[in-house]
Amino acid sequence: MPTPEELQRFLDIATEAAMAGGAVLQRYYGQLTSVEEKGRQGDLVTNADKESEVAVLAVMRRHLPGHAILAEESGQSADAEDNDYLWAIDPLDGTTNYAHQYPFFAVSIGLLFKGEPVVGVIYAPFFNELYQAAKGLGAFCNRKPIRISATPDLAQSLLVTGFAYDRHQTDDNNYAEFNRLTHLTQGVRRGGSAAVDLAFVACGRLDGYWERGLSAWDLAAGIILVEEAGGCVTAYDQSPFKISSGRVLATNGLLHQELSQALIETRPLGHPDQYRNS
Ligand code: IPD
Ligand code: CA
Ligand code: CA
Repeated sequence: MPTPEELQRFLDIATEAAMAGGAVLQRYYGQLTSVEEKGRQGDLVTNADKESEVAVLAVMRRHLPGHAILAEESGQSADAEDNDYLWAIDPLDGTTNYAHQYPFFAVSIGLLFKGEPVVGVIYAPFFNELYQAAKGLGAFCNRKPIRISATPDLAQSLLVTGFAYDRHQTDDNNYAEFNRLTHLTQGVRRGGSAAVDLAFVACGRLDGYWERGLSAWDLAAGIILVEEAGGCVTAYDQSPFKISSGRVLATNGLLHQELSQALIETRPLGHPDQYRNS
């Protein structure tokens, strides 16, 4: 396990990198020059995603040339000196929002140590909010400590979720869960940025978040942020969270059991023909 001094150094480097990526996102907001689909319906990539990633990687490689990096737009870099560390980087989480000038988007940079998130930085430029956390060092927004909400149960909760790009191809599309939880809570939001969703749980604006079909770069930073803010992060069935599963349940802890139960009891709605592309 890295020492607190090493964690602080990694946090500072990730912060510098997130700010560099965020400056690119600010520059192109409302002024994109290229928007393409990456393959799956609705899965967009813009020149801002690509240029933000270049800016983030430049900072990371300058300070930590020996570390392995998994970045959304360029994949995994090889020849790591120390395979215990892996940086998971999303240079623009919330691309669909960004392309529509809907301001929920962020740069997300997380460090995994032996597969577990230990450092996280999320920078949401439109809100001018910088979220930082490292294992044992606490969770912060704009350098002030943050804490999860005290909402005691589902009936009084405001939740958030999301729908992966494979929702058009699978019955495991989260539609049924969204339906059910909308009925059982004060509301379920669909933020469109997993990183911002997790940051909002960490600072207590939202009480819980679940989603499937995610990648390590969507989750790594947000997970450590929620944990360090006092929250609870597991698989849907409350077994230990595994980043490779792409599935997460993150709450204030108080409503974890209730939300877990609702999720595992919910059966898929099926995929009605009228939803398919014709
Ligand atoms: C997406 C966002 C969205 C989530 C999707 C992600 P992207 O990331 O985090 O909230 O529902 O599953 O893929 O494509 O905007 O980086
Ligand atoms: Ca993402
Ligand atoms: Ca992205």
